[in-house]
Amino acid sequence: MKKILITGGAGFIGSHVVRRFVNKYPEYQIFNLDALTYAGNLENIKDIENKENYTFVKGDIVDENFINELFKLHDFDGVLHLAAESHVDRSIEDPLAFVKTNVIGTMNLLNAAKNSWKNNFEGKRFYHISTDEVYGSLGAEGLFTEKTPYDPNSPYSASKASSDHFVRAYGETYGLPYVLTNCSNNYGSYHFPEKLIPLFINNIINNKSLPVYGDGNYTRDWLFVEDHAIAIDLVFHEGKNHETYNIGGFNEWKNIDLVKLLCTIMDGKLEREKGTSEKLITYVKDRPGHDLRYAIDASKINKELGWKPSVTFEEGLEKTINWYLNNQEWLQNVTSGSYKDYYQKQYS
Ligand code: NAD
Ligand code: DAU
Repeated sequence: MKKILITGGAGFIGSHVVRRFVNKYPEYQIFNLDALTYAGNLENIKDIENKENYTFVKGDIVDENFINELFKLHDFDGVLHLAAESHVDRSIEDPLAFVKTNVIGTMNLLNAAKNSWKNNFEGKRFYHISTDEVYGSLGAEGLFTEKTPYDPNSPYSASKASSDHFVRAYGETYGLPYVLTNCSNNYGSYHFPEKLIPLFINNIINNKSLPVYGDGNYTRDWLFVEDHAIAIDLVFHEGKNHETYNIGGFNEWKNIDLVKLLCTIMDGKLEREKGTSEKLITYVKDRPGHDLRYAIDASKINKELGWKPSVTFEEGLEKTINWYLNNQEWLQNVTSGSYKDYYQKQYS
């Protein structure tokens, strides 16, 4: 039985990856390592918590001794590393937290894998999950390819870029078998409502203002999270060693257009008069260093591994909105407590 370590599996994308691996691969023993920060929530994976091939481990990837002991205890065959501090606005407030988890935490995992695999890399794989934000900002034209030079602008993207470089360096220097993916903006169920789509759905439900940064003319490329999990499964099993793959939705939206679409769908779902939710739109102070546009060229993963998004944006958004409307208790639970302090500080 293969032992697979997934980090950050109580978070948004990680929970979808853990669910997919536990259900699809009963022959794997899946270990989900998560520190359960504000973004981690065991409710996100409640449906698989009693599966025989699943073990939850609470722990911090920044704790070097703990990570080394974990790798001594279990001879992992593969690591899928998703644990991270992931929100750009929080990185502007507290950059060091991002260096600790995203850089030092990744280093601890790389060292532990290298040391426990002792140069016998047969059948081993370290998969680092990263972001398109490492490429910086596009102008009106062009797409990020795997060859686009790194040019991170936020403390978050700088910390992710740094961790990507270390992963590559461990591949080059020590021969560590790695794969790396850089993905665009995800959306879907279990998305923490500090990020644009779940935040705005939650605010519309609660008749709260919709804080659009700057003029709203910023562009993101949106991918349904379950399609990201499918891509991660594919790259983990079929990706070539020491290769990077870009993953994206072929789905660019200006923030303001996306927000207006959300408002229209939500008015229908909540049986409110047309235009009700749009009245909640409020233009607020811009995010410092705000990247203008992200857009991924995902032709490499498409050509080499046959991956493409399986749902359209309309389908994905419909599923997502329905999920939030049917899971308002989840929303209420994650927005009580420290979320209120964060919200007050960020948007007051
Ligand atoms: P998330 O913030 O929802 O979840 C992160 C998880 O990591 C949480 O469960 C948290 O408890 C855990 N974690 C944080 N610090 C930890 C630590 N020190 N030790 C152990 N666990 C810790 O993040 P997400 O949006 O699911 O992103 C997952 C990964 O995918 C990240 O590496 C992120 O950079 C990358 N990514 C995200 C997106 C996106 O749109 N959300 C897109 C591309 C790439
Ligand atoms: O591109 C991949 C990245 O996507 C991931 O690596 C990050 O982990 C993830 O958080 C996401 O980063 P963004 O900064 O693009 O996502 P966010 O949801 O924070 O913002 C999306 C856009 O919406 C961005 O242009 C900022 C804007 N925005 C966001 C918030 C929270 C607003 O206008 N108002 C808001 O309140």
